[in-house]
Amino acid sequence: MFPPPIWLMRQAGRYLPEYKATRRKAGSFLDLCYAPELAAEVTLQPIRRFDFDAAILFSDILVVPHALGREVRFEEGRGPLLEPIAVGDIEKLSVAGFHDHLQPVYETVGRVRESLSEEKTLIGFCGAPWTVATYMIAGHGTPDQAPARLFGYRHPDAVDRLLGKLVEVSAEYLIRQIEAGADAVQIFDSWAGVLDEACFERFCVRPVAELVARVRRRFPDTPIIGFPRGAGQLYGSYRQKTGVTAVGLDWTVPISTAVGLQREGPVQGNLDPLRLVAGGDALFDSIDNILGGLGAGPLIFNLGHGITPETPIAHVEALVERVRKARA
Ligand code: CP3
Repeated sequence: MFPPPIWLMRQAGRYLPEYKATRRKAGSFLDLCYAPELAAEVTLQPIRRFDFDAAILFSDILVVPHALGREVRFEEGRGPLLEPIAVGDIEKLSVAGFHDHLQPVYETVGRVRESLSEEKTLIGFCGAPWTVATYMIAGHGTPDQAPARLFGYRHPDAVDRLLGKLVEVSAEYLIRQIEAGADAVQIFDSWAGVLDEACFERFCVRPVAELVARVRRRFPDTPIIGFPRGAGQLYGSYRQKTGVTAVGLDWTVPISTAVGLQREGPVQGNLDPLRLVAGGDALFDSIDNILGGLGAGPLIFNLGHGITPETPIAHVEALVERVRKARA
């Protein structure tokens, strides 16, 4: 299977001038997420420019807490800001109106699927319950999600209830995206790697396994990619226990480890996004290393985390060209 399919996490974004132009038209970042015509446009921009094999729905993982009635804002240069949730608020999360709130997202999926050529994959997504919960608890991004971890040690049962609620709505959210035209879905667990072994099992693996099971009951054949960033030695058991179709690997996963994981099923990854910023040999050596180690097995070529705003467009073009020239 060579060359492997390629797409990049956060492929629609601020490194593209056409994204910035559409974003200005929309107003705020959330306005863009809820404007189907403009969101469909920015979803398609990186496909037009780079001819990636997959488009990823343009939205954000934090539209889910927003649809549950929590306050969510994005401030330029500060990232997301939410009203931090207290134990007593968890029971009050309101699922009424959840799908009405997210209707524009489903409409975006439908519009993109209509405009996208048949051989391209459309990927829908949600945040994993734990990662979404870290933002709901802290109210903002932090380097290590200490507020959410502490909250988890102090109130484990409350966190279970919060994660349970997120599993329920996220499963429905993904099902609606698939109904609207998504061919595959990815579960972003960007903060899986900050958990110790016991909490990884309780707060990451168990909720994701339940989420996967619910989506599978409705759509048994839709591929599900799990991305437990930073899971390290726990990647293997994550795949086994959650039942995801493919695992997304961050760039710290050694190729030798990735080869072992690939024996169990498809892997996605895992170029360091900063190699894409640097370009040149730093970029090409790693592409060749990934393709050399993983290219003969089931592989989706991707970064090990999202593309950064300072990435030169010429480097993305060079990446796609190098991967497409690969031969087994
Ligand atoms: O991949 C894509 O192109 C699809 C769109 C997408 C966005 N966010 C758009 C976005 C996806 C899949 C996400 C996922 C997401 N959002 C995650 C998981 C992946 C990861 O990066 O770890 C997380 C943790 C979030 C929450 C979030 N959204 C943060 C922390 C931030 C601020 C950081 C930043 O890059 O600005 C965002 C904002 C955001 N989401 C932007 C984009 C294009 C930038 C906002 C802007 O245009 O001003």
